[in-house]
Amino acid sequence: MTAHETVRVELGSRSYDIVVGDDVLASAGEMMAPVLRRPRVIVVTDRHVADLHLETLLRSLSDGAVDAIPIVLDAGEQTKDISHFGKLMDAILGRGIDRDTALVAFGGGVVGDLTGFVAATALRGIDFIQIPTTLLAQVDSSVGGKTGINSPHGKNLIGAFHQPRLVLADSRVLRTLPRREMLAGYAEVVKYGLIRDAAFFGWLEGHGADLVDGDPAKIRQAVVTSCRAKAAIVAADEREAGERALLNLGHTFGHALEAETGYSNTLLHGEAVAIGMVMAFDLSARLGLCPPDDAARVRRHLAAVGLPTGTNFTNSVLWDPARLMSHMGRDKKAKGGKLTFILVHGIGDAFVSHDVPVKELSAFMEGAVAA
Ligand SMILES: NC(=O)c1ccc[n+]([C@@H]2O[C@H](COP(=O)([O-])OP(=O)(O)OC[C@H]3O[C@@H](n4cnc5c(N)ncnc54)[C@H](O)[C@@H]3O)[C@@H](O)[C@H]2O)c1
Repeated sequence: MTAHETVRVELGSRSYDIVVGDDVLASAGEMMAPVLRRPRVIVVTDRHVADLHLETLLRSLSDGAVDAIPIVLDAGEQTKDISHFGKLMDAILGRGIDRDTALVAFGGGVVGDLTGFVAATALRGIDFIQIPTTLLAQVDSSVGGKTGINSPHGKNLIGAFHQPRLVLADSRVLRTLPRREMLAGYAEVVKYGLIRDAAFFGWLEGHGADLVDGDPAKIRQAVVTSCRAKAAIVAADEREAGERALLNLGHTFGHALEAETGYSNTLLHGEAVAIGMVMAFDLSARLGLCPPDDAARVRRHLAAVGLPTGTNFTNSVLWDPARLMSHMGRDKKAKGGKLTFILVHGIGDAFVSHDVPVKELSAFMEGAVAA
């Protein structure tokens, strides 16, 4: 594999490249110049990323003759709310932007989702570029154009589809990522194997531990494979009318667990997805849809790299199956009173199911919580 690899997201006039490589940050100015209407950007980042990597990015923008104004936000999920949206919008409009100014989202999924949503709505839509700095953001949130913020009524309930003009994924910035965040992103990498690429899952069983330990070549390969998978799904179904829902494998269960833990540090999104994917496999096995051995294999691999695989990851929460089920019902993906679950026929073979019997689900949840 060369130092840079490019994955194209094919969306007609809104198509864009994802560039994955080891020194992408240092070349960011040069790489983004061709997609900018004017060599002027506002870089939105968070405090952690600013302290570690902003200087490198600003130097690279300056080398590429791109003027940059940085805005630094507090780090953390609480920044993805309506009040921070308002403040960021005011700060950006206060700089006298016009339709030719682009925003650069430089950070994890929080910065990407919030900045993308500001870009979608400022002046009815301006360009933005994603420079994701977490593994989760590189393989998932920066690609596909879902932008948004949380509401007191739930996560990601306010938002818009707004595709970036370019995504620059630098493998080296991940070196400063705390291991727990790396693992949380790894859960989303595994998801692509489980959805429709059994060979990739097999590769991860062999190399996932090295990847999580920071092996740059393995990281690059996994990010490229994951982005290719997501790009193909997004190109086929940009607005989630069908196939894109497969990307929610593990998410209905995961969101319920996150809601019960208050979207706090007790359980990161990727950790919730890891447990949720195991539950999706277990439920599929219980319904006779998937070989129990596949469910066991998924659990074994996630546990081997250090991800949680069940509600017993903590004893500080008293899990209540009925409450978890009510969170699933409140999930915005619930349609006509029925829950949409992504189930599996096996590793690499996920499908959308609309008709899981409530009785079965309820019995399954009782068992999952007791385990
Ligand atoms: N838009 C989508 O399609 C999509 C998909 C999945 C998740 N999401 C959203 O993404 C968010 C989670 O994203 P996340 O996991 O990246 O969280 P995050 O943005 O909160 O980043 C996690 C932590 O890592 C820090 N950090 C970021 N890069 C770093 C680096 N290189 N070195 C050291 N520290 C670094 C951040 O400051 C933060 O403290 C959630 O809000 C979720 O809803 C969106």
